[in-house]
Amino acid sequence: MRVLLIYYSQSGNTQEIAKHIARGIKSTGAYIHVCPLKEATYEMLEDYDLIGIGSPVWKVDTPNMHKFIDDMPDQHGRQFFVFNTHGTLPHLYFPVVLPVIKSKSAVVIGYKGWYGDVAMPGMPKPYYTVGHPDEQDFAEAESFGREMAENSPKIAAGQTDLCYTDPEINDKVTEQALLASTMFANPDNPQGNFIRDPEKCHYPSCHLCMDNCTMGYIDLSQTPQVFGNRGNMCDDCHECSYCYMICPFGAIRTDPPMEEQVQRDLGVRHLNFEKMLDRDEKEGLFRRHIAAEDVGYDHPYIFWHPQRPFLKVPKPLRDEDI
Ligand SMILES: Cc1cc2nc3c(=O)[nH]c(=O)nc-3n(C[C@H](O)[C@H](O)[C@H](O)COP(=O)(O)O)c2cc1C
Ligand code: SF4
Ligand code: SF4
Repeated sequence: MRVLLIYYSQSGNTQEIAKHIARGIKSTGAYIHVCPLKEATYEMLEDYDLIGIGSPVWKVDTPNMHKFIDDMPDQHGRQFFVFNTHGTLPHLYFPVVLPVIKSKSAVVIGYKGWYGDVAMPGMPKPYYTVGHPDEQDFAEAESFGREMAENSPKIAAGQTDLCYTDPEINDKVTEQALLASTMFANPDNPQGNFIRDPEKCHYPSCHLCMDNCTMGYIDLSQTPQVFGNRGNMCDDCHECSYCYMICPFGAIRTDPPMEEQVQRDLGVRHLNFEKMLDRDEKEGLFRRHIAAEDVGYDHPYIFWHPQRPFLKVPKPLRDEDI
């Protein structure tokens, strides 16, 4: 059996989970190929029996992953499994993503999410989910990978009871849909416009933002140079700030300045997050590595990280890493 695992990851959590899922798949003797999302093509899918697809949760999925599944051609019954890593608001992802994949005549045989630490400019450091994914998460990811690889041929042979049932639309989903809709109600990026300072920029010796822009919007090789916001999804409420986070020279800023926004939000405790995590912890869905009172509301991510870059781009996962 041939399995293709496509993933997107900014700070490395989803990539680490992808690696362990892939190890679980490999342990069954199946052939597995891992592929970062930006290298994936629809033609590649044709060569595989089972496709794994995963991203972080950004309210729902990430816009690049959403575009990939939204534009995906008909899959004629090909099997898929879906995974994510997330912070405190994970419950909208599968109820939104699975129907999109299924609408392409794909069979979704399983899905699973894991907590991950959060690297966002204004979010507290340490965050509630610090320490995740941890060893237990990795063991679960391997076991999930094994299960997907073992179930796939049985499902293909007609066994009907092995596909996961659809996620329940429960109070958590409704609650998070309401929260997300208040965020989406303002179509502007709450972090403001991203601006590149040509004086500080080291292009062409550096092209990190161009190579790693979530939506592939940056092209500094063109005249005039194309950077980020141009009335596209970079401007909207996804709060992507990857170019700002990874620029080694501080050549990307926001208007209004990120430091002011972060200062403004300093000390505002996210009580909704705490309530949701308390509930998930009681239900055995969340394992805490730090107490809520130790969450770094006095230390937002970018203040905690005095050096540039704020975040390093993870080296992509390759088949030899599995
Ligand atoms: C722009 C952005 C938006 C995010 N939005 C959410 C969210 O709505 N819900 C949530 O649970 N986590 C959210 N997170 C946290 C990530 O899902 C979490 O940190 C994830 O593990 C990151 O995966 P990665 O390391 O593979 O990039 C967000 C993170 C970023 C950077
Ligand atoms: S990452 Fe920073 S220095 Fe490098 S090309 Fe982009 S803006 Fe310029
Ligand atoms: S914030 Fe930066 S990385 Fe994200 S989509 Fe916009 S230009 Fe690309």
